[in-house]
Amino acid sequence: AGSVDRNSAGALTVGGVGVQELKEQFGTPLFVMDEADFRARARAFKDSFDAAFADICGGVDVYYAGKSFLCTAVVKWVEEEGLRLDTASGGELAVAARAGIAGERVALHGNNKSDAEITRALDMGLGRIVVDSLDELVRVGDIARASGRLAKVMLRLTPGVHAHTHEFIATAHEDQKFGLSMAADTTDQAGLSAAEEAVAAASAHPGIELLGLHCHIGSQIFEPDGFALAAEKLLRFLAAMQEKYSITMPELDLGGGYGIAYTPVDTPRPAAEIATAMAAVVRSTCAELGIDAPRISIEPGRAIVGSTTFTLYEVGTLKTVRVDANASNNGDAGNNVTYPRRYVSVDGGMSDNARPVLYDADYSAVLASRTSTAAPQLSRVVGKHCESGDIVVRDVYLPGDVAAGDLLAVPGTGAYCWALSSNYNYLARPGVVAVRDGSARLIVRGETEEDLLNRDMGA
Ligand code: LLP
Repeated sequence: AGSVDRNSAGALTVGGVGVQELKEQFGTPLFVMDEADFRARARAFKDSFDAAFADICGGVDVYYAGKSFLCTAVVKWVEEEGLRLDTASGGELAVAARAGIAGERVALHGNNKSDAEITRALDMGLGRIVVDSLDELVRVGDIARASGRLAKVMLRLTPGVHAHTHEFIATAHEDQKFGLSMAADTTDQAGLSAAEEAVAAASAHPGIELLGLHCHIGSQIFEPDGFALAAEKLLRFLAAMQEKYSITMPELDLGGGYGIAYTPVDTPRPAAEIATAMAAVVRSTCAELGIDAPRISIEPGRAIVGSTTFTLYEVGTLKTVRVDANASNNGDAGNNVTYPRRYVSVDGGMSDNARPVLYDADYSAVLASRTSTAAPQLSRVVGKHCESGDIVVRDVYLPGDVAAGDLLAVPGTGAYCWALSSNYNYLARPGVVAVRDGSARLIVRGETEEDLLNRDMGA
């Protein structure tokens, strides 16, 4: 986070608030979010994409991807910083509605929207419904028409570009649940791609206003090349469709997926660099095709909220084991090289951060309640759940004198941690605190034991 520091007692402070105070006031585990940092990252996306695309389409609409972390306070900040909101369910729409954001600044995603969700989106006057399949397209159009309305629709296409962190792969075929394939052989008898069928159906449907096209190529991506290739493919398709069907599609959404640093090996690019690379391709492709550039939008989630937050845990049990250095090299019997690994248990785990278990994600940890001059010791931070895979940080050097009662901070937990949290083992979900200018405010209350028992209907 932007304003992390140490106070005179050596304890970590963020936004001018010390971790000990946070623990006393709110307990642990706790998500601690730096509000100023969130706002600065949101603004950085808006400003750098606006600047890079100013001469192309007058600027960029940035939709914060609420799936990464959502609550009404965050919607407020997003709005105040000039961004919009991307939602993916009726529940996320309910948060948007409670926060009072204007419907036209909200988008709805999802590969299996219910009729109730579609109706809710129309009732809220949503700026765009991103349609994922032919089947859904007709449903959205029919529901809108039945109530005398026009659904503003973007079509989610799969451009055959798949990216993960450092690399992207381009494939001709799509075999996944999301989106309309641009590949010609996923077709009906007329030989049209699903994407083209959708363009034709959308522009003919009286309940639909076809705004344009959308794609999202993956998440935690560092290199801009994949985004640029997807943009180019979508623009070529958009130009061909505009020509063939005599229509105009004024919008193009290039999704989210910009990566962040979880550990020092991660090397994300600044928003401005990605924006410039993407703008260059959009500019040259539109010029080559001789079309007016559509209005560009993006949907970053992780890159805005991920690094704004750390999780504060209290240390409990410790134990040290000797690890066989050749344990995974089982042909090498007789080699007695071992090293110590210290297991540092904390009062949360996979219920508040499922990402290590789900994605093999790496995090780091620091001793937060004090500084220490003790020699660093190879440590594994683990949770309190009944699974040996319940690891928070696989390998980290922590001071050798870390003891029960110390506080640890695990940075980079703003995205997809609280959002993916569970009540496994009947642990209560932690609260989320926003710190700013020396004060802390609970923006999501942590669950209590009573919350957990409330839904048990009794024997
Ligand atoms: N737009 C669409 C259509 C998406 O599906 C997503 C993420 C985003 C935007 C935002 O992507 P971001 O900028 O946050 O990378 N749970 C996984 C990530 C799942 C991403 C799902 N879609 C994780 O924890 O890594």
